[in-house]
This record gives sequence, structure tokens and C-alpha cells, in this order.
Amino acid sequence: MDINAIVKHFDFTEHPFITSPDPRFLYFSSQVREALAKCEFMARDRIGPIYMYGPIGSGKTSLVRRLHEKLSQDDRFNVKLLICPNLKSSNAFLRLVMETFEVKTERSYAASLGNFEQFLVQQFQDGKIPVLLVDEAQYMTREQLKLVHYLLNFETSKTKLLQIVLVGQEELGTKIVNYRELASRMFPIAMSAMSLEDLRDMVQFRLTVAGRREPLFAERDADQAYHMLYAYTKGLPRDAIKVCFELLIDLAVGGHTQATPQQIEEIAKAQNLRV
Ligand SMILES: Nc1ncnc2c1ncn2[C@@H]1O[C@H](COP(=O)(O)OP(=O)(O)OP(=O)(O)O)[C@@H](O)[C@H]1O
Ligand SMILES: [Mg+2]
Repeated sequence: MDINAIVKHFDFTEHPFITSPDPRFLYFSSQVREALAKCEFMARDRIGPIYMYGPIGSGKTSLVRRLHEKLSQDDRFNVKLLICPNLKSSNAFLRLVMETFEVKTERSYAASLGNFEQFLVQQFQDGKIPVLLVDEAQYMTREQLKLVHYLLNFETSKTKLLQIVLVGQEELGTKIVNYRELASRMFPIAMSAMSLEDLRDMVQFRLTVAGRREPLFAERDADQAYHMLYAYTKGLPRDAIKVCFELLIDLAVGGHTQATPQQIEEIAKAQNLRV
């Protein structure tokens, strides 16, 4: 049973439960809406750098991609999204940042920094807002965070020259809190798992995007099924999507289009999820 067969069986236009963080499938829970609005507002008004952290599979990458997409549509922003590479030195990290912004690097670290500062001042004079988004920022080393700290000191008397949003798993929060000078300059956004209602709406939203018209569960089963999904996944969207992915295979193999709560439970258990 391949993806195309599933899509065909349910008469979808595409598969609703692929676990890649596609912003089109992003359901705007109140948490997502608020986090996006905060990032946008902070960037637009050049107010401040943000670090966003949360549990594995809670939707951080999807959110930061959506933010990237949104800001890219606005000419005032020069927005770049980096995935924190496995580079130990801050020099290598600086080079990567500069290359993404297409700024010439130099052999010496200090000279590179000089070029970058000049670029930021030029962007400011041109009325542009450079925004650096870094995903997987939990992997940033102390040296790299030091560079972020340094970059945050590039400012005019009124405003920051570079807007930064660091996004990563829980350890990112801890790392920054432990780096007090940095913590005092940055604004936190803590992401958490979804509520039962949001999880349910998220699943239904993804089905709708995929072109589904019928509900996945019979009306008499729906409440129990979503409770089950929530209990086993603790409201983490990636886990829920994985369960739904297998659920569709089971249904297609059995020739059905609607599922039961028992099927959710069996799959969740087989995926080693626990209540
Ligand atoms: N609000 C949402 N609406 C729809 N799908 C979502 C939502 N949040 C997360 N997902 C889905 O859950 C899965 C995991 O999301 P994502 O990769 O963004 O999580 P993450 O927090 O970056 O995970 P990790 O900690 O492993 O980097 C993806 O398939 C994503 O599409
Ligand atoms: Mg991620």
C-alpha cells in the first residue's frame, strides 16, 4: 500500500498525514497564532530578539517556516532561515550567516564582523529589516551564542540592526536562561503540546486541506477516538500524525473509510506510545 493508493482510496487530493513540516498544513491554534503574531510584531518594530522553545514534535519548525514564508512576502524584510549546523566554532557559524545574507567574508573573524556590521547599517539606511531565523538552535554552542550576543549589540541609539529568532527544543530554553546576559536581552516564547480540542481541529484541518469531505470517525465514535488519540500522544502533533498515518493504511487495507477508537489504541500501542 503506497501513498498514491491511500490518496486514491480516500479520494484525497494529497496525503493529509505526511510528517514533513509543510506550512500549508499548519493549523492555527491559538498558540500558533499568538507566537506568529509576536514574532512578526517584534521583527516589524525591530523590538527584540526571540527564543522559542518547546517539546519534540510540537510544531516549531512548521511555525518558523510559516514565519519565513510570511515575512518573505513583505519587501521590507530580508529574511533568512538557517538550520543550526553542526559547526563548533563561532567563526564557521558567522561565515554561514554572512553567506546566507550574501555578505562577503574575510579571512579574519574581526574583519568579517566588520563587513557584517557595515551590511547591517546599509540595510538600515535602505529601510530593510534583516531577520535571521535559526532552527534546531538547541545545538548552538556557547561560542555561537556568544556571537548572537555580540550581534545583538549592533544597534543604533533607537533600534536593533538585526532581528533574531532562535527556535529549538527545550534545552534551548535552558541554555539561554543559563546565559544571563543573553537571556536578559531576549524574549522567550514557550511552545507546548496541543489541547484536546486543538488536536482534534488540527487533524480535521489536515483532512480538509487534503480534500476530505467525510469525517474520519462516525459521529458516535468521534469523541472517544479523539480522547484516545490525545491520551496516547499527549497532544504532540507529530505523534498524532504518525498514528493517523498508520490508521489510513489500516483502513485502506481493510477497505474502510471510517475508523474506530479501538484502531487508534492498537496503533498507538504498537508505536510504543503510552497513556
Ligand atoms: N499546528 C499544527 N498544525 C498542523 N500540523 C502541525 C502543527 N504543528 C505541528 N504539526 C505537524 O507535526 C509534525 C511535527 O512538527 P514540526 O516538525 O514542526 O515539530 P518540531 O517542534 O519542529 O519538532 P522537532 O522538535 O523534532 O524539531 C509535522 O508533521 C507538522 O506538520
Ligand atoms: Mg523542528
